[in-house]
Amino acid sequence: APVVVAIDGPSGSGKSSVSRAVAGHFGFGYLDTGAMYRALTLWCVRSGIDLADQDAVAGAAEDLPLGLGADPQDASVELDGEDVSAAIRTSEVSAVVSTVATNLQVRAILQQQQRDLIEVLADDFGGVVAEGRDITTVVAPDADVRILLTASEEARLARRSTQLHGTSDAATVAAVHDEVVRRDRDDSTVSQFTVAADGVVLVDTSDLDFDGSVAAVVSAVVA
Ligand code: CDP
Repeated sequence: APVVVAIDGPSGSGKSSVSRAVAGHFGFGYLDTGAMYRALTLWCVRSGIDLADQDAVAGAAEDLPLGLGADPQDASVELDGEDVSAAIRTSEVSAVVSTVATNLQVRAILQQQQRDLIEVLADDFGGVVAEGRDITTVVAPDADVRILLTASEEARLARRSTQLHGTSDAATVAAVHDEVVRRDRDDSTVSQFTVAADGVVLVDTSDLDFDGSVAAVVSAVVA
């Protein structure tokens, strides 16, 4: 039977890069649910939809012209045929994505789309790695493998800083601090990362490098 791997974690835990590598390792499909919240946010900003208008944003979520690449080596994101993989990760989008992600109508719609995608990808690839913030708990609580990736705030800030700006000097870390810590707080109604839910394997990557993090998750999957 196809294997469903659910991975949750906060910004800077290594969730996206590790999830892609694990999917590649097993030849599984890959689903980045954060990209869906980000793409919806970008779409609303571009179409002039007020993010505070919950019904309008939910309406946009229903018919978002979204294309998600399921290949972990090429997980491109398209809106209406345009590649927005980079545009959805700008600080403009990061700054407001939590407004969209805390809209409960939006969550219900995207969570259902995610369940459908997980089923299709699992069948197509023989397995799927789906990552986000509520995959182990809400979207796929029955997944075969459920993992919470954590890391100390210090490690997460350094990683995020390197990922976004190519450096983790003190000034750059201070600049990303706001974005990361504020977003953790803004997301706290939809996700919390201090305790793993029942049956969820906690992988702390604070002292692991990328390869070590991938190896830890791969062994949790084969266990
Ligand atoms: O950039 P980072 O890896 O921290 O986040 P992401 O995975 O791209 O997710 C961006 C945002 O989408 C998060 O800050 C949450 O507001 C939201 N999100 C969510 O609410 N539920 C998910 N399953 C995934 C993301």
